[in-house]
Amino acid sequence: MEMGSRYLFALIVATVCHLKLCQAIQWLGLAVNGSTLAWNLTQHCRLLDGLLPDQQLLCRRNLELMPSIVLAAKQTKLTCQKAFFDMRWNCSSIELAPIFSPDLEKGTRESAFVYALASAAVSHSIARACASGELPTCSCGAIPGEVPGPDFRWGGCGDNLRYGLQMGGAFADAPMKSSRAGNPITKLMNLHNNEVGRQALIDALETKCKCHGVSGSCSVKTCWKGLQELRDVAMELKSKYLAATRVTPRHVGTRKQLVPRELDIRPVRETELVYLISSPDYCTRNEKRGSYGTQDRQCNKTSVGSDSCNLMCCGRGYNAYTEKVIERCQCKYHWCCYVTCKKCERTVERYVCK
Ligand SMILES: *[C@@H]1O[C@H](CO)[C@@H](O)[C@H](O)[C@H]1NC(C)=O
Ligand SMILES: *[C@@H]1O[C@H](CO)[C@@H](O)[C@H](O)[C@H]1NC(C)=O
Ligand SMILES: *[C@@H]1O[C@H](CO)[C@@H](O)[C@H](O)[C@H]1NC(C)=O
Ligand SMILES: *[C@@H]1O[C@H](CO)[C@@H](O)[C@H](O)[C@H]1NC(C)=O
Repeated sequence: MEMGSRYLFALIVATVCHLKLCQAIQWLGLAVNGSTLAWNLTQHCRLLDGLLPDQQLLCRRNLELMPSIVLAAKQTKLTCQKAFFDMRWNCSSIELAPIFSPDLEKGTRESAFVYALASAAVSHSIARACASGELPTCSCGAIPGEVPGPDFRWGGCGDNLRYGLQMGGAFADAPMKSSRAGNPITKLMNLHNNEVGRQALIDALETKCKCHGVSGSCSVKTCWKGLQELRDVAMELKSKYLAATRVTPRHVGTRKQLVPRELDIRPVRETELVYLISSPDYCTRNEKRGSYGTQDRQCNKTSVGSDSCNLMCCGRGYNAYTEKVIERCQCKYHWCCYVTCKKCERTVERYVCK
């Protein structure tokens, strides 16, 4: 009976997953709903669609982290779309979370990017929350061993990257570490890309310094370790996305491991994003493969990059139209202390893909 009910449970989970409701990043759905809860009762952990069973457990044990996780979900959505606004795939399907279309549901290059970014975002958000005193379980980051520079000393409050990586990692990786359901090869891919995201975050920790003292005398010079903004981490991950490696599973002893599909036999590097299946070209609409196509997307006639009309429109050509934009202009500063501006109308040419 025990075996039977277990089997039934696994079957139900597998079926639900098949209906696209079991993505390890479905917590990104908290961006829509997460702020409606106070997160001060353990029941809150199973109210929304976003959390998978292992994450619900972490939620009950660490309720105080949930506002940071909700924030991370919002930032992931926004940052992904900003980083890809000039690309054929523009991250718009992330809006559907906690449900995903095939571009993010399968082991594509795009899902590799989103997993890495989401994983970096949770740890980023927790590390920052520690430093701003929002969490009872952590505070400022540890003071580094080295000296920051001549005449400077450590002070202020650094982002607690260590705690962010520990708790954020546990949360983001939980669905892959659970043995319950999901394709084991996709899990390996997701785990790897989550780790790449956290590595990019580690690389984004920098020493920030400030001069204080009476009227800028700079008699006190302090430094702390602070994280770059998530959008900077996203740009780094975007280059990794462009250079991502297609991998294939291989047996190594009794274990499975991902190795590059083309080229040489080498293990995948900790710094490279990996994916399992090729993406559509995102030029034409193909809902089965998660492509919205680029018809009606705006393109840039003078650009030579990915947002150029040639590349964005996949050679189909474009339509031009003019648009009137109203801007503030001829601004004057008045002593003291306000600014007045006029409203100017300007005509701009816009181009959209055929
Ligand atoms: C928001 O929460 C309600 C339940 O409170 C749920 O039915 C709905 O699916 C949620 N929406 C999203 C996008 O998570
Ligand atoms: C939880 O938070 C809400 C809103 O801030 C508050 O009204 C409620 O009393 C809190 N409940 C507990 C058990 O602290
Ligand atoms: C992203 O692409 C989709 C599909 O082509 C389009 O509907 C949407 O407006 C685009 N979003 C932005 C911000 O350009
Ligand atoms: C178009 O691309 C050019 C060159 O990259 C850039 O200077 C310009 O700001 C872009 N225009 C718009 C509307 O994005």
